[in-house]
Amino acid sequence: LKFVCVSNDGIDEHMVWLIGLKNIFGRQLPNMPKEYIVRLIMDRNHKSVMVIRRNLVVGGITYRPYVSQKFGEIAFCAITADEQVKGYGTRLMNHLKQHARDVDGLTHFLTYADNNAVGYFIKQGFTKEIHLEKKRWHGYLEAMLVTLFYAYVWNFSEKNVI
Ligand code: ACO
Repeated sequence: LKFVCVSNDGIDEHMVWLIGLKNIFGRQLPNMPKEYIVRLIMDRNHKSVMVIRRNLVVGGITYRPYVSQKFGEIAFCAITADEQVKGYGTRLMNHLKQHARDVDGLTHFLTYADNNAVGYFIKQGFTKEIHLEKKRWHGYLEAMLVTLFYAYVWNFSEKNVI
């Protein structure tokens, strides 16, 4: 089992993994248009943290780091159907947090959680209270037209130690 963070860099193995992740998102996030999933996964501004087992993708999180603003936007998050609720989602999120802090220098994450995934995000420490100053995120989010009422936020505060 390994955790990797890759983007569309043209390396064959990475492309195979990104396509595997696209297929998982396609099945697990039926409300998301397939073209939108492909566009963001293949966009060079986005990165994907994935769980790989026996060279197959078990799940992943695609996010966009806004390095100058120090926050990341989680676009998609899913684990393949027969491996859910076994702890992979939690381990994946911990790897993402570590990578985002150590490599990207981020302090916060924002995401628009589906109603049925709110429980998962809350367990990962996300809240509805946005402590990040508005000037740091305003105008940056992919889905900014959506009211922030639906946004869930996570930050590297003392109570959120990983
Ligand atoms: N609702 C409530 N609680 C949940 C849910 C859920 N949908 N999914 C997991 N949990 C809980 C688990 O019970 C567990 O609780 P525990 O620690 O008390 O035992 C905890 O969250 C962590 O569970 P994991 O096993 O680590 O989670 P899993 O590997 O299943 O990954 C995920 C969670 C990613 C939500 C997965 O179930 C999944 O792919 N679901 C379908 C797709 C989806 O809804 N993705 C998120 C959409 S929002 C977005 O993409 C921005």
